[in-house]
Amino acid sequence: MKKLNGINKKNIAVFISGRGSNLKSLIKYSKLKKSRFNVKLVITNKKEAKGLGYAKKNKITNFAVNYKNKNIAEKKILFFLRKNKINIICLAGFMKILSGKFIKKFKGKILNTHPSLLPKYKGLNTHQRVINDKEKYSGFTIHLVNEKLDSGKKIFQKKIRILKKDNVKTLEKKILKLENKYYPIALSRFLINL
Ligand code: GRF
Repeated sequence: MKKLNGINKKNIAVFISGRGSNLKSLIKYSKLKKSRFNVKLVITNKKEAKGLGYAKKNKITNFAVNYKNKNIAEKKILFFLRKNKINIICLAGFMKILSGKFIKKFKGKILNTHPSLLPKYKGLNTHQRVINDKEKYSGFTIHLVNEKLDSGKKIFQKKIRILKKDNVKTLEKKILKLENKYYPIALSRFLINL
């Protein structure tokens, strides 16, 4: 663990499956003096994930884990987490569901960002469903991960008004920008209380 003004910086692992814009913003924030965390490890289930580029560029240890057998994959991941002394896991566009057994081992220490105002619109294609339902508001939620999909304790939520001219693309863009901005901030706040 690195030290920050006498405070121990927590080691985080970020799990991704694709683009990795949230990983990028977590890495960027982690370099700030005030950061309470250090991105120590990046895990993906997709070796072609674009986000891996950010890990490589920043010389962060990264592993693409073969998910053909979930049990074996999770065992490998646990091994990497222990080896790198990881305190917190941040899911950021990770498209695999973690098993209950895995979650228990990191209980209260796995965060996820979901692009809807949970408990509304759990699961996939949130923006499309929000637009179809003519919702007035949407946003994103950072929450703890428990055994039920997108159902753990809320840590942070940001709401935005949906404009008449908004479509799936514009909504996704606006919300992703906010997720990128606030994921590191929400994580930092969470770490203060840990
Ligand atoms: C984000 O919108 C997140 O809420 C969802 O997947 C997206 C990941 O984006 N779970 P990125 O890979 O971090 O750019």
